[in-house]
Amino acid sequence: MRGLRLRFPSVSIYHDSADKIQKYLAHHRRTKADYIISGLPWANMPVNVQEHILSAVLASLAPDGMFTTFTYVHACWLPRARRFRERLERYFTQVKISRIVWRNVPPAFVYRCRVGGLTTGGRFTSLQ
Ligand SMILES: C[S@@+](CC[C@H](N)C(=O)[O-])C[C@H]1O[C@@H](n2cnc3c(N)ncnc32)[C@H](O)[C@@H]1O
Repeated sequence: MRGLRLRFPSVSIYHDSADKIQKYLAHHRRTKADYIISGLPWANMPVNVQEHILSAVLASLAPDGMFTTFTYVHACWLPRARRFRERLERYFTQVKISRIVWRNVPPAFVYRCRVGGLTTGGRFTSLQ
């Protein structure tokens, strides 16, 4: 925390569970965020924790906002990872999936999700 604050003095940094988004938006007199970028380990989380945090994300995302997260390729077939992907498809109007980023260690891909705005016809689309 201290190191991050020293390195990024203009950034507000909080150490808390991700389901507290609303609390920290309120610190900034906001109720919605334009972007929510997550590095959470969704595939390792109990389903109820996934649901809880995703609910907070949905409650906090501006209508034209974007939620971005990633998953590791080797873990994407695990039951919780598949359930997470199903939840994204259920809750978001649009879910775009990046190409695999092979240079990441371990390789991963990115989900970019919107609740509103333009759609491309399918709920799941691949980013080119
Ligand atoms: C794969 S690491 C990602 C680290 C870093 N955020 C990044 O994106 O490079 C997953 C991190 O999520 C954190 N984490 C797990 N459950 C969390 C929760 N409910 N709220 C906030 N962070 C959590 C873990 O402590 C761990 O640091």
